[in-house]
Amino acid sequence: MLQQLIYPLVRRAKIYNYIQQSVGSDRVWKGFIKEVAQLIDNWNDDEIWLDLGSGTSEVLEHLPTNIRYYGIDNNPKYIQFAKEKYHNRPNTTFHCGNWNEFDSTSFTAKTRIVSALGLLHHLSDEDAQRLLLLGKRWLAPTGTLITLDGCREINRSRLEEFFYWIDRGQFIRNPDSLCALFPSQPTISIHGDWLRVPYRYALCRWTKS
Ligand SMILES: C[S@@+](CC[C@H](N)C(=O)[O-])C[C@H]1O[C@@H](n2cnc3c(N)ncnc32)[C@H](O)[C@@H]1O
Repeated sequence: MLQQLIYPLVRRAKIYNYIQQSVGSDRVWKGFIKEVAQLIDNWNDDEIWLDLGSGTSEVLEHLPTNIRYYGIDNNPKYIQFAKEKYHNRPNTTFHCGNWNEFDSTSFTAKTRIVSALGLLHHLSDEDAQRLLLLGKRWLAPTGTLITLDGCREINRSRLEEFFYWIDRGQFIRNPDSLCALFPSQPTISIHGDWLRVPYRYALCRWTKS
C-alpha cells in the first residue's frame, strides 16, 4: 500500500532528487568520488564514462567537466530532467532507453569507465550478470566497471531494512553474492556512514586487465 503511494512519486525526477538529497546523497557522491579518484586521474579528453541507469545524473555535479559522459536511462522524466539541467555541460550525452538494447561498441576503445550506480539491486542475478558482461565488452582494454548498491549484512537493523525497502530494490545482496555476479572477483568496499540514515553501500570496482 505504502509502496503504491511512494513509487509513482519517486519516478518524478524532482521528487526523486529531493528524497535523495534529504537523506544525504551529496555525502554519498563525495565519498564515492574520493573512492574512485585514482580511476579518474589524468583523464584524457576523448575518454568516455558510460553510465548505465544514469537516473537524473546527480553524479555529474561531482565529476570534472573534461570527463566525456554518456548517460542511459529508461525513464524519460529522468533523462529530460538531466538534459535540461546539464545542457551547458560540455561533453555530455543522454540517451533514453534500455541498457540491454544499447550498443556502445562504436566507442568501446575510448570507454574508461562503465558504471551502474544504484542499478544492480534492481536486477535479478541473470540480468545483473548480463549487464556486467556487456559492461565488460564495452570497456576499453584497461577500463573499469564501477557499481554502487545497497548491501545487506547479517547484523542489519529493522530500520536499515526499511530503507532498503523504500529504495525499491528487490535484489539487495550481501557482499559475497554481489561479488559473485562479476566475471571475476572485484575490489569491494562497504560504506555504512555515507547516508544520514542507516544504509550500507557496497562499491565494487572491476578492472578489465
Ligand atoms: C536507483 S536509480 C539510480 C540512478 C542514478 N544512477 C543514481 O545513482 O542516482 C536506478 C535507475 O536505473 C534505471 N533503470 C532501471 N532499469 C533500467 C533499464 N533496463 N535500462 C535503463 N535504465 C534502467 C531507473 O530508471 C533508475 O533511474
